[in-house]
Amino acid sequence: MTILLLGADGQVGFELHRALAPIGRIVATTRTGLLPGGIDCARCDLGDHAALDALIETTRPNWIVNAAAYTAVDHAEAEPDLAHRINGDALTVIGTAAKRVGSRVVHYSTDYVFNGTATLPWREDASTAPLSAYGRSKLAGETALRESAAAHLIFRTAWVYGPRGTNFLRTMLRLARERERLTVVADQIGTPTPARLIAQTTALVLYALRNAANDDARFGTYHLTANGHTNWHGFASRIIELAHGSGLIERKPEVVAITTAEFPTKAVRPAYSVLDTSKLQSTFGLALPDWTEGLARAMGELNA
Ligand SMILES: NC(=O)c1ccc[n+]([C@@H]2O[C@H](COP(=O)([O-])OP(=O)(O)OC[C@H]3O[C@@H](n4cnc5c(N)ncnc54)[C@H](OP(=O)(O)O)[C@@H]3O)[C@@H](O)[C@H]2O)c1
Repeated sequence: MTILLLGADGQVGFELHRALAPIGRIVATTRTGLLPGGIDCARCDLGDHAALDALIETTRPNWIVNAAAYTAVDHAEAEPDLAHRINGDALTVIGTAAKRVGSRVVHYSTDYVFNGTATLPWREDASTAPLSAYGRSKLAGETALRESAAAHLIFRTAWVYGPRGTNFLRTMLRLARERERLTVVADQIGTPTPARLIAQTTALVLYALRNAANDDARFGTYHLTANGHTNWHGFASRIIELAHGSGLIERKPEVVAITTAEFPTKAVRPAYSVLDTSKLQSTFGLALPDWTEGLARAMGELNA
């Protein structure tokens, strides 16, 4: 089995490269043609649609796993066309080429397709209404992939972090070393999700579908996050506690709760973006761990 992995140097892509290794031969791609560590790999820019189509045509993979995306949520407000080209239009290219050569597609989307007004976890069939250019571009990608009629899985995830890349965990640890007081938004609720959990779950699902026909009812859209929920202030507080307890930081800064209104950003974020993962868990017989467990494990890796 051949798996074409797009975006192998992102948070999720890096973890997928390891997690998918036992399942098939991986053709990894990055925008630069280099993997973390400087090893050569194939080059793929989702903005170059002709090259993307040609790559799929020549590779003819069993699965295309797309972990690449324009993820600069605030920047996207200033360059919505570029975000749309990479997160939206590229999925028309991937889906159409996949359908043509008989590949299946795994794609990742976001809690930011929702407007955040719910009070119960969002189900897959809830109405979407993105508040930001990034959210609109990701929703366009979902729609494009569905319309291509390629067999696909769309995993909507949220609040992704890990021991590498740019993410909230690493930012908090850096700020904790620099400052005595951190102010963190407490009125946005969601579920911190380790990149590794996303990759490992993807591997389990791909393995479960290895003998499935392309019209198998298990293809479709799923919510994939850790269990439970918190707010950014709660997430930051737990990071600081664990980091201090394990000696990763010498001194505990004060973590002060503020409101979104006190920390304006270019892109509007949903206030409540907890995703209901019961469809994924019941369809594939999985048990997703609580976000606090995932955080403790990720912190353990930072310590190692
Ligand atoms: N991060 C989150 O909190 C979050 C939340 C919900 C959903 N998601 C979704 O989860 C998926 C994985 O996200 P992540 O956190 O792993 O993101 P990430 O760490 O920002 O990685 C994104 C990857 O995409 C690559 N990329 C950007 N523009 C590209 C282009 N034009 N062509 C090819 N590659 C390009 C980046 O490469 P460069 O290093 O060259 O820029 C990077 O390797 C994405 O679909 C994202 O939308 C993420």
